[in-house]
Amino acid sequence: MTDILSPASPEDIRRQLLSVVKSVKGQIRNAENLYVSVDLKKPRLQSAPAVPETEDSWHGLHTAAAGCERCALSKTRRNVVFGDGNRSARLVFVGEAPGADEDQQGLPFVGRAGQLLTNIIRAMGLERKDVYICNILKCRPPGNRNPLPEEIRLCEPFLKRQLALISPEIICALGSFAAKTLLQTETPITALRGRFHSYAGIKLMPTYHPAYLLRNPQAKKQVWEDVQLIMKEIGLGGETTTAREVVP
Ligand code: URA
Repeated sequence: MTDILSPASPEDIRRQLLSVVKSVKGQIRNAENLYVSVDLKKPRLQSAPAVPETEDSWHGLHTAAAGCERCALSKTRRNVVFGDGNRSARLVFVGEAPGADEDQQGLPFVGRAGQLLTNIIRAMGLERKDVYICNILKCRPPGNRNPLPEEIRLCEPFLKRQLALISPEIICALGSFAAKTLLQTETPITALRGRFHSYAGIKLMPTYHPAYLLRNPQAKKQVWEDVQLIMKEIGLGGETTTAREVVP
């Protein structure tokens, strides 16, 4: 503690500034989650026609998710990982469930797999803020175990409502859990990927999860093929190079 007689040291000032910056960052992140953000720069990907994006719908949904105690994951989570990105996006990525990094930061796909997903999005000529990213489960399963059917059942209404509010043109389901849950099928991802399916009238492309790509880099080629089909569908990009060049 400093007083008027003993002025703050540079180290005190640095510490106080850091704590202010940290607190402002947290408040901005909360505000972004609670309210519709305004993009000052025109997104490269044109927004979808108006969706019922009222503040109340998103606010209500986010508040409900933030306080959710429907399953036991609410007891072990640090943060609810609601979703992130453009709420008018034409393209939504849906993953499985938050991992440790996501649980810690309250944001989807921010760990190693997330970095790879970010690279894929950039390779499409987009930024994360142009798309919306979320998961089937909003809370981390302990030890990153697979989601339980009951957890999926209880959590899915949040995702359904998010997708209804965004009303994207395309959903990219990342990995087996996302694809099987959204398509209500037991067909393996190997058989599902590579072509569009339909989810509530929205085109859905299943592809391998980025975490799978970290373990099996040879599968990047197929993911890049799937991603190119999405790009073609939304009129993005011209001739592309190889998966290895664009998604290192
Ligand atoms: N894996 C997922 O499925 N989702 C995340 O948010 C992070 C890793």
